[in-house]
Amino acid sequence: MNPAHETAHDPAHETAGGAAGTTADAFHRVYGTHADGVWAAPGRVNLIGEHTDYNDGFALPMALPQATRVAARRRGDGRLRLHSDRFDAGVVELEVAALAPGAVPGWARYPAGVVWALAEAGHPVGGGADLHVDSTVPTGAGLSSSAALECAVAVAFDELYGLGLTRPELARTAQRAENAFAGVPCGIMDQMASLCCTEGAALFLDSRTLGHHRVPFDLAGHGLRLLVIDTRVQHDLADGAYAGLRAGCERAAALLGLTALRDLPAEELPAALTALPAELAPLVRHVVTENARVTEAVDRLSAGNPAALGPLLTAGHASLRDDYRVSCPETDLAVDTAVAAGALGARMTGGGFGGSVIALTPEDRADRVAAAVTAAFAAAGYGPPALLTATPSAGAGRLAG
Ligand code: GLA
Repeated sequence: MNPAHETAHDPAHETAGGAAGTTADAFHRVYGTHADGVWAAPGRVNLIGEHTDYNDGFALPMALPQATRVAARRRGDGRLRLHSDRFDAGVVELEVAALAPGAVPGWARYPAGVVWALAEAGHPVGGGADLHVDSTVPTGAGLSSSAALECAVAVAFDELYGLGLTRPELARTAQRAENAFAGVPCGIMDQMASLCCTEGAALFLDSRTLGHHRVPFDLAGHGLRLLVIDTRVQHDLADGAYAGLRAGCERAAALLGLTALRDLPAEELPAALTALPAELAPLVRHVVTENARVTEAVDRLSAGNPAALGPLLTAGHASLRDDYRVSCPETDLAVDTAVAAGALGARMTGGGFGGSVIALTPEDRADRVAAAVTAAFAAAGYGPPALLTATPSAGAGRLAG
């Protein structure tokens, strides 16, 4: 085993009661009273379908075993108290009625944003709650730690207040929290993945309708491993680059007379590319070919051939690198090295500008691939990447209590 391969704290290997118990105990230590329950929501990797969600397109994410847990107790006096082991030692004290975009700084804006979005939509959550949060999802790694936090809070409030919202409704609420309250212009994929994924499967997502279904993804049964290589290059979706790409896609769709780029059929792509300004054409080429790669990936998985995903992953990376231009030297090096060392395919996952790479490898080559990437990073003068193994895990839900 490669010594650089972290044995991540893996909630899938704990009993649900064990993981929930730790979070519930911490809640008790912080607030001096028992939680009403413990809820969890996972991080994700996206197998294919990147920068398609805000173009009404397709994606194929899967949930990670790494998850965010929220122990919560309903209050009745309108106060919202938030505590996290991860970010700081203190309890953040807020009033539900006073929540407003821009008013809450730091990590607390994600859980507070969910409560704000629920209240704003007319749901009766005004009584507030006490929350304690812990998480095994790495932050800043492009693995959707913020969506995991939002979605854990969303499912907790849904049950605490008996709201009865559907998963897509909860996903829209979490996205609204991130867009309007936290100021990050993300699409819907991360929240849908965290809320709707199922164990042993990827999730096909139609971002226009939020229609989704499970696509079995049996890695172990096919002698495969999905490595996650966190380059440890921090990305920041709020820095304007992501918003700029979104705006470019929307402008291209408008110029083509379409509601969204999802509506451009592949056979009309060549004509569209010649009609568009030079800076927009590569964006459109990426979105249209990426949607086709998602459909093809679903076909290959449905035919029981997960190894055949490999070339689609590598082609998707080339498109993100050359057309969409959201890769960076570290992600390119991780992809090229993984493939040269025997991975079936590899690509950056998530928004880009750093973050993580996924590499699909035969189990018996996985350690060699991991060691090769670690060595290549050292030779290039980069800090060591963090390595995880991704197994398709369950979406958000109540753990216990
Ligand atoms: C980030 C966003 C998602 C999606 C991806 C790119 O993860 O949060 O909505 O746009 O980037 O596919």
